[in-house]
Amino acid sequence: MNSTATQLDNRQQLLARWVESRSVTDDLFCRVRTDALYDRPIAERHRIVFYIGHLEAFDWNLIAGQTLGRGPAHQEYDRLFAFGIDPVGGGLPTDQPADWPRLAEIAAYNRRVRAELDRILCDDSKVPASHWQYPRDVVLNVAIEHRLMHAETLAYMLDQLPLDRKITPPDYRPIASPQPGPPTVARMIDIPAGTATLGMPRGRSSFGWDNEFEEQSVEVPGFAIDIHKVTNGQFLKFVREGGYHEPSFWSDSAWAWIKEQNIRHPRFWYERQGRWFYQGMFEAASLPLDWPVYVSHAEATAYARFGGKSLPTEAQFHRAAYGTPEGREQTYPWGDALPEVEHGNFDFQRWDPVAVGSNPTGRSAFGVEEALGNGWEWTSSVFAPFPGFEPFPFYPGYSANFFDGKHYVMKGASPRTAACMLRRSFRNWFQPHYPFVYASFRCVSN
Ligand SMILES: [Fe+2]
Repeated sequence: MNSTATQLDNRQQLLARWVESRSVTDDLFCRVRTDALYDRPIAERHRIVFYIGHLEAFDWNLIAGQTLGRGPAHQEYDRLFAFGIDPVGGGLPTDQPADWPRLAEIAAYNRRVRAELDRILCDDSKVPASHWQYPRDVVLNVAIEHRLMHAETLAYMLDQLPLDRKITPPDYRPIASPQPGPPTVARMIDIPAGTATLGMPRGRSSFGWDNEFEEQSVEVPGFAIDIHKVTNGQFLKFVREGGYHEPSFWSDSAWAWIKEQNIRHPRFWYERQGRWFYQGMFEAASLPLDWPVYVSHAEATAYARFGGKSLPTEAQFHRAAYGTPEGREQTYPWGDALPEVEHGNFDFQRWDPVAVGSNPTGRSAFGVEEALGNGWEWTSSVFAPFPGFEPFPFYPGYSANFFDGKHYVMKGASPRTAACMLRRSFRNWFQPHYPFVYASFRCVSN
């Protein structure tokens, strides 16, 4: 195939992925009862209805507006639905359902934006490459991954919606009853000193967000790391032994947070008459003791201190997940083969986690299990730019707005992370007191 044909082929693949990503988010909104679409399941976030308009407004503003210099699709909605929110330290939104447009109006806006963007993008002859102010492939990848990231963050939000406000999909696989499993004692493995390569070099054809550049080599001293993610069963010991009542496990701000919010257990758990239950996406079940626990960074850090350990740094995670005893680094924890179902619980296979150790095929060369999938993993590293960082000119705040010392890096992937974001350099980040994320963790001893 000549280079023009290859470019056309890549372009067609990107457009196909873009259309497919729309169906992922469309399906997600179908999981919400119509009378719940103006609910706000998470106080720090917009109402669900905002996101129905946001995904199309983002695409229009990015592709038609900034990149191709077109006028607005809708004078008001392009701005109303432009940006999500992430308030740090209070300042919760106070808008009312009546402040938002009616569903039919948002649906009409979405239809118009999609039809117009499809016309622009699918009819290549009318849009010469020179009309694109920014590289076409980069802009389309940003649109695709932005939408797929929302497919995950929307799932966090729907987890907080009461079960009777949701519609269970026909292919839903119920949570299996907890099996009497292996002992929930953490086993650790030694990782020898070596190099960890973070980020990716600029100039490669593969896509990455601004915070993934440039490539960094970090020398990591030897350490020991948990083979598995910390389970609900292990975390239950921390709860039962008073972990939420012992200030020495918590930073001052984390202690103030759990006291103020009266937090005494992970957000995904609840207790009835002395028994613990798990609040899944479409059902509640007895607490699955062998699943990874999902907690905030503050709770993960407290648990690590309780055990005399700590969270891994971003570089330690890389070394354990991608390093090899021979010194070579791999593309994925299991090697260089593209991700498949057997490698881990990711790419929308399930709505909830599975037991730790369920995907031994995805084991890293050092023997660390499920570094990719079944829950993001907290690191102790504050989210910060790599040397050589340059913001995308068309989206300057994507990362830079969060280089505030108040967000921590998460690595890996969750059950609701799309396959395209399983690349080694991908970095996720959240505030330490945000308990809704599919964020697991494992501990290290230095
Ligand atoms: Fe967004």
